[in-house]
Amino acid sequence: MPDRYAVIGHPIAHSKSPTIHAAFARSTGQDMVYERLLAPLDGFRATVERFAAEGGKGLNVTIPFKREAFAVAATITERARLAGAVNTLHRTGDAWHADNTDGAGLVRDVVTNLGVDLHGQPIAILGAGGAVRGILKPLFDAGVASVTVTNRTMTKAAEIAAQFARYGRVEAVAPEALRPHPVVINATSLGMGGAAVDRFPFDGHVVAPGAFACDLIYSDTETAFMRWAREHGAARRTDGLGMLIEQAAESFALWRGVRPDTRSVFALMRPGA
Ligand code: ATR
Repeated sequence: MPDRYAVIGHPIAHSKSPTIHAAFARSTGQDMVYERLLAPLDGFRATVERFAAEGGKGLNVTIPFKREAFAVAATITERARLAGAVNTLHRTGDAWHADNTDGAGLVRDVVTNLGVDLHGQPIAILGAGGAVRGILKPLFDAGVASVTVTNRTMTKAAEIAAQFARYGRVEAVAPEALRPHPVVINATSLGMGGAAVDRFPFDGHVVAPGAFACDLIYSDTETAFMRWAREHGAARRTDGLGMLIEQAAESFALWRGVRPDTRSVFALMRPGA
């Protein structure tokens, strides 16, 4: 019997994780299967326990269970605790271990795949939701000089700045007071799922001439943020597909002890890119 893994969420049919992990398993020769697991909204724990009883070895956790997953875990990594969300559960013996690989996936995509040197750079982040908590510590670990968080709702940006002040230079700045930055990251949900966005609601001068612009959202067509960044002079732009694949690779490495090649999977998912 191959080892079993799955992505658990509600809904789950759209998830690209099974495609990504099947490609990783093939390329590394790992004997495993990776399924979609639809949990009822009030049945996350029961579904996870059943999966474990059937021999399940690992789970990726997605919306809306990323917080609930803490409750089933015997141990929690610091990066998951700081993110306030779990995206990976790993089974050892009779216990689940919770982790979050999103931020590591972002940094690996930007630094290793795209060759952007984050060291010493001031970073601007648009948005102050859960996604920001997942990426801040990994950005500081990558050596960024500072992070400026801005958001429509500034109280949320201020909360994040206060929570992460011990890890590096981070400040909350109102959208209208933003200075130009060489690296701008979109962590808002604007444009998610291909939703139309008439006007990206931030002042384009935050994009310094020649800046690198990075969307955490991915799409087969140019995202609203990427279009906006291009129109405001960002020389290099990426969406979140690379991050998605790299966070999956980080989970896979955790489970299997082997780091898969991600370039071939990127090419598989975005032919011709
Ligand atoms: P996630 O967990 O993916 O970060 P979230 O916590 O719902 O998602 O956060 C969504 C982010 O997108 C927030 O920063 C939100 O701004 P508010 O905190 O002001 O709500 C931002 N966002 C969503 N729709 C927006 C819009 N129309 N204009 C500006 N910001 C928007």
